Amino acid sequence: MKAVYPGSFDPVTAGHLDIIERAAKIFDCLVVTVFSNPAKKPLFSVEERVAMLKEATSHLPNVEVDASDGLLVPYVRRIGARVIVKGLRAISDFDYEFRMALMNKKLDPEVETVFILTSSQYAYLSSSLIKEVASLGGCVTGLVPAGVERRLREMWPAAR
Ligand code: PNS
Repeated sequence: MKAVYPGSFDPVTAGHLDIIERAAKIFDCLVVTVFSNPAKKPLFSVEERVAMLKEATSHLPNVEVDASDGLLVPYVRRIGARVIVKGLRAISDFDYEFRMALMNKKLDPEVETVFILTSSQYAYLSSSLIKEVASLGGCVTGLVPAGVERRLREMWPAAR
C-alpha cells in the first residue's frame, strides 16, 4: 500500500525523519511530498527542501520525494495512494490536524489520514524552532539531518 507524508519541511527535522522511517516500515511505498504554501514565506526553496529530503532518506529504498501545490487530496489520488500520514506531536497539534483530517475526509471520503505519534525525544521539535535557534547561532546538531545542519551553518555560522 502506498501512502503520502505531506508537509512544508522547511527544513526537514529529525522528528520528520523519525516519522518517515517508521511509516516506511508500515507502508510498501511512502511518498514524502513538499507542499508549497503561498501564505508562508519559506526559508528554503521547494527545490532545496526536496534535495534535503532526498539526501536524508537515501537509505530508505521504499521512500520517494516529490513536490506539489494546490489541494492535497486530489494529489494523493493522482499518484495512486489513499492514505495520508501525519505526525502528531502534542495536544497543540491535535486541533489543527483533526480539522484538516476531517476536511480532507469531506473532500474525498476514500482517503484516510493515519497519525503516527512522535517519539518522545522529538516531541518539542519544529522547523520554526530549528530556524530560530540556528539563526541565533545555537547548536542544532542531532536535531536535523547532517545536510540540513550544513546548509543552516552556511547561512548562519555557529555562535562561539
Ligand atoms: O508541515 P505543515 O506546514 O504542517 O504541512 C501542512 C500541509 C502541507 C500538510 C497542509 O498545509 C496541506 O495539506 N496543504 C495542501 C493544501 C490543502 O489541501 N489544504 C487543505 C487542507 S484541509
